[in-house]
Amino acid sequence: MVIQQLYRDMCRIMSQNPNSDTAFEANQLIKFVLGRKRIELLSADIAETDAEKLLEYAQKRKEGYPLQYILGSWQFFDMDLYVGEGVLIPRQDTETVCEAAFSVIEKLDSPLVLDLCSGSGCIALAIKKFCPQAAVTAVEKSDAAFSYLEKNIARTQLEVTAVKADIFDYDRVMSENSVDVIVSNPPYIHPDVKQTIQTEVSFEPEMALFAEEEGLLFYRYISKNYRKVLKNGGYLIFEYGFDQQETVKNILTEEGYTIIKEIVDLGGNARGVVAAKE
Ligand SMILES: C[S@@+](CC[C@H](N)C(=O)[O-])C[C@H]1O[C@@H](n2cnc3c(N)ncnc32)[C@H](O)[C@@H]1O
Repeated sequence: MVIQQLYRDMCRIMSQNPNSDTAFEANQLIKFVLGRKRIELLSADIAETDAEKLLEYAQKRKEGYPLQYILGSWQFFDMDLYVGEGVLIPRQDTETVCEAAFSVIEKLDSPLVLDLCSGSGCIALAIKKFCPQAAVTAVEKSDAAFSYLEKNIARTQLEVTAVKADIFDYDRVMSENSVDVIVSNPPYIHPDVKQTIQTEVSFEPEMALFAEEEGLLFYRYISKNYRKVLKNGGYLIFEYGFDQQETVKNILTEEGYTIIKEIVDLGGNARGVVAAKE
């Protein structure tokens, strides 16, 4: 089969999924399966097995299976991180939260940074990469996600300590006044909206998405119980959902934190906050 025909067939199949960026995705899949860009294959004859594989992937995308899980790898800043079933796919919004963390951490001398609910490790690894003076610990409970965290530490060769633990216990084993910065992108979706999430998102682990107390359980627990773990003058940085700005800020101020900065994503939406323990 010639590549142009295959490319057109893939785009036609994937265009039945309104969430698919068909041309971009077809090109990514071609590069993934054939090892070269479509433009470099114009005169090549594509093996039947490869064509079948590409059409099978196009069909998966039509059904909403995430492109990132097919590719097995996704970029976060300039790091290629392993992803797959069982781990949340790193999002661009989270890069904005990391940038806010960098600007706090770069001013600190040898800080200890804790990434709670670390998933693929994207936040912890980005902090270590861009703020190498920080000692970074990443905490994750899920077996599947933890294995991606470990693989990504090995892949990037960044010195991050991975701890397999439940954040609802881990505060008890931490020393008081020991941590300079806590960063967390916890599960925050209200369980009641489970039926309305995008098909692609429904392939991601429920444990990474949904949280009790209308999505607020982790914000409440971390603000209250990790306050003693933070040093005085330390920072707590949260990513939150698009409609949680006021609620999360209220939780933080009720627990005695001072709001230092609102984090706004590339679309201009408030998606996170930097708070200080004064
Ligand atoms: C929204 S995802 C964030 C992942 C990653 N930090 C990111 O930004 O892409 C939340 C993560 O919290 C983990 N998690 C859920 N409950 C947890 C708990 N009780 N203790 C530790 N990790 C937990 C999930 O497995 C998931 O990896």
